[in-house]
Formats: sequence, structure tokens, C-alpha cells
Amino acid sequence: MNKKLSLALILGSSASVAFLVWNYVPLPSDDPWDDADIQLIRSLSLSALPELSEDLSNSVADLESAAEFGHALFFDRRLSGNGTVACANCHKPELSYTDGLELAAGTAIGPRHTPSLLGIAHSPWFYWDGRKDSQWSQALAPLEASHEHNIDRTTVVQLIIQDEDYRNRYESVFGPVPDLIPNVSASPLGNKLQIDQWNKLTTTAQVQINTAFTNTGKALAAYQRKIIPGRSRFDDFADRLTLNSSEEKNAALSSTEIAGLALFIDKGQCASCHNGPLFTNHEFHNTGVMAIRGELPPMARYDGVRIARDDPFNCLGDYSDAESTECTELRFARDANDLVGAQKTPTLRNVSKTAPYMHGGQIKTLLEVVRHYNDAPTSMLSHNEAKPLGLRPSEIKQLEAFLLTLTAPLATAEKWLSPPK
Ligand code: HEC
Ligand code: HEC
Repeated sequence: MNKKLSLALILGSSASVAFLVWNYVPLPSDDPWDDADIQLIRSLSLSALPELSEDLSNSVADLESAAEFGHALFFDRRLSGNGTVACANCHKPELSYTDGLELAAGTAIGPRHTPSLLGIAHSPWFYWDGRKDSQWSQALAPLEASHEHNIDRTTVVQLIIQDEDYRNRYESVFGPVPDLIPNVSASPLGNKLQIDQWNKLTTTAQVQINTAFTNTGKALAAYQRKIIPGRSRFDDFADRLTLNSSEEKNAALSSTEIAGLALFIDKGQCASCHNGPLFTNHEFHNTGVMAIRGELPPMARYDGVRIARDDPFNCLGDYSDAESTECTELRFARDANDLVGAQKTPTLRNVSKTAPYMHGGQIKTLLEVVRHYNDAPTSMLSHNEAKPLGLRPSEIKQLEAFLLTLTAPLATAEKWLSPPK
């Protein structure tokens, strides 16, 4: 590119020329990619997505009848203290399973932004801070959270036993529903009254309730394994990269979008964290995002990994279907100091549909997200792993244009995207 640039520099130093130089957009030449680039770009294509691996902690994860049960539960507002909150309130299929809000709204406004669930079953950790190590265990938390569904586990189990359809579905997947579940509101994680009620139950009743409750989570997890991104224009581009004619090769993306892709993998350093076909390394990083208004900067993954280890519903716990030797993610999880303030790298699939962005919805638009990385502000806690990029305004636009090429209708079968008939 530099011939034109230096010509402009020689021609003069007036403000308008300086502006032109600043905005000079190098167009991709016929073959801007070397072999390493091509390999990297192809590794981002959905064609490179490995088959979903088994969830050893959930023996019904791939049972169709479990997914159908989970499907019904996911859209059911009766699973809440006030009868108005379903998982699908916040994870709306038409918004790639997000809600368009800065902070999620259940029975009250919560402390975090709702993440997308596209390809979520490929993730080894759940939540922005990774405090859950399985999808079924994650699913239990919003049910009992006072600002989300605000229902207790005993009431959830009663609902399943008393609803004939749910009872049948449950029994076809897990065997008989528990008998003798007392008609009380009880949970070890509830308010004082609910905790008192829980402590009055026999150990047998507690185990029965926990078993049926965790089975509910396992069905919800089976459903969420169906939530997968569809092929976007970027995937067509990536898959055609090895074709001979550059015309055919580039047809799927515009020159601006291709320039954005080049920035994404090179100068922008984005692919160092947003990599693989889901555009996430499934790891945790501190990217200097400002704290949520009114909140101290969160410890994030540093605390999250410790919470996951202590969770009775983790891979090593009594309700997991895995052998302890199979819980390698949990047993070997890193817990070092560099995880202070580190959030989970989110997928960028359908990112144009999931605004606002970041763990607290702090950033409203994709353009502002790219500007955030360009500036790489000092982190309020620990240090920002990303470095300032020195992108020109035109390059910021190119990166945004590239991010917009990752949107496509989901590959999930239509029937899963709305409540079951
Ligand atoms: C009130 C809105 C709300 C409801 C209701 C809700 N969620 Fe979420 N969900 C969120 C928010 C916010 C987060 C991120 C919270 C955090 O990281 O601390 C989240 C995180 C998740 C994650 C982890 C995603 C990731 O990238 O790690 C999964 C999976 C999920 N929810 C599934 C469910 C299921 C299943 C239900 C129903 C049982 C449900 N959610 C109910 C708002 C909601
Ligand atoms: C060091 C790892 C890292 C690098 C480098 C990085 N990201 Fe991120 N990205 C993350 C993490 C972690 C988050 C979530 C941060 C948070 O919520 O606090 C994120 C969030 C995002 C989001 C918001 C997605 C959402 O659903 O909220 C977008 C968009 C994004 N990054 C794009 C980019 C682009 C474009 C680049 C390159 C200019 C880039 N990222 C570089 C790790 C990284």
C-alpha cells in the first residue's frame, strides 16, 4: 500500500491531505493472504466446527425426548415465583437467545447482561465468570435466583409431578417421579423461611428433590444443545478461499468486509481470543471493560472458578453422571491471579443481533466496541490484556463491516425456536 501513502505525504502537509492520508483505505490485492492466514481463516468457518462432544455429566444430553421436555420447560412461565418468567423471556430465539437489554430483567433487574446461547453446548464453562461447569447445573441457578425466576426447587418438582404432561415426559426420560414430596416452599438457597423448611426435610426427601431438580436441568441442557448458529456469508468466503479464481473466491464478501477480516486476524489481534468456528477460545480474559454503574469492578473468573469448585451440582458432585476422572476441566481449571477481572470470551456469531455488548451491556454498538479495543483503556482491576491498536477511523469501520458478516438464521430446526405446540 505504501506507494500511494508516501506520495500523499510528499505532495503536501495541508490539513486536508493529512485527513486523506488518515482515511486512506488499502484495498485488498488479488491475493492478500499467505498460507498461515488461509489456515486461520478456514479454522474460523463453521465447516471446521467439531461434532458436539458428549456431556459425560449428563446421560440424557443427546436424548430427543429429553430435549423435547427441556423445550417445553424453556418456554414455560409457570416456572417462576410470579408466573411471568421463562428462560425464553431473556433468551429470545429471534435475538439469538439474548434480550436486547443492558441488564437482564426477571422478577427484578439483575446484575449482568444476557449472553447469546448460540453454540453454547460447546462451552466447557458457563456464565461470564464461568462459575458453572455444566449446562445442566447452570440451568438450575436462574430458577432459584431471586431476580430471575424466583422459584424454589421443591416447588419446581411439585409442578412437574402435578402436571400430567410433564410427569409423563419426566418419567419417559428419567423413570418414576419421586413420591412423598412435601407441599412446601423449600430450598437451601432460598430466603430464611425456605431454608428453615429445607432443613426440616429428611435427607431422603432432600436427595429426592435434588435428583428431580437436577433432572430438570439435564432436560433443559438437552434442549439447549440444539441451539446452533447457521452458515453466514463469512463461512462461504472462508470455504472458498482455496479456489483458483479470485473472483469466485471473493464473491461472498465486499472489499471493505475483506479488509475488516484482515484487520480481525492481524493488526486488530481479535482472533487471538475470538477464534475457532464460534469465534471464542472459551477462555477468560480481562479486556478493560468499565465496571457496571454502581458496582465495584468484579473479580470475575478468579472468583468464578472457586465457586464452581464448591458447587454441589458440579461435575464431581453426587448429581453428576460423570466419573470423577472424567471431570478434567474442573479438576485442572486454572485459578491464577491473572484471572482477576477476566470474563468469558463471548461468541461473535450473530453479534449484530445481540446488542448491547459486554458482561454489563456497557457498550451499545459494535462501532463503539471496536473503538474500545482501539483505545484499550487501563483496567480498573488487574490489567487489560488487549493493547491499543492505532486503527484509523476507516479501519474501525472495516472491522465493524466484517463483524456484520457473521450473522445468519440459526441452523436450529424451526420447531425448537418457539414454544412447543
Ligand atoms: C432474567 C433473565 C434471565 C432468565 C429468566 C434466564 N437467564 Fe440465562 N442468563 C441471563 C444472564 C444475565 C446470564 C449471565 C449471568 C452471569 O454471567 O452472571 C445468563 C446466562 C445463561 C447461560 C450461560 C451462557 C454463557 O455464555 O455462559 C445459559 C446457558 C443460560 N443463561 C440458560 C438459561 C436457562 C436454561 C434459563 C431458564 C432456566 C435461563 N437462562 C433463564 C439471563 C437470564
Ligand atoms: C484478550 C482477549 C480478547 C481480544 C484480543 C479481543 N476480545 Fe473481544 N471479547 C473478549 C472478552 C473477554 C469479551 C467480554 C468482555 C466483558 O464482557 O467484559 C469480549 C467481548 C467482545 C464483544 C462483545 C460481544 C458480546 O456479545 O457482548 C465483541 C463484539 C468483541 N469482543 C469483538 C472483538 C474485536 C473486534 C476484537 C479485535 C479488535 C476483539 N474483540 C479482541 C476477549 C477478547
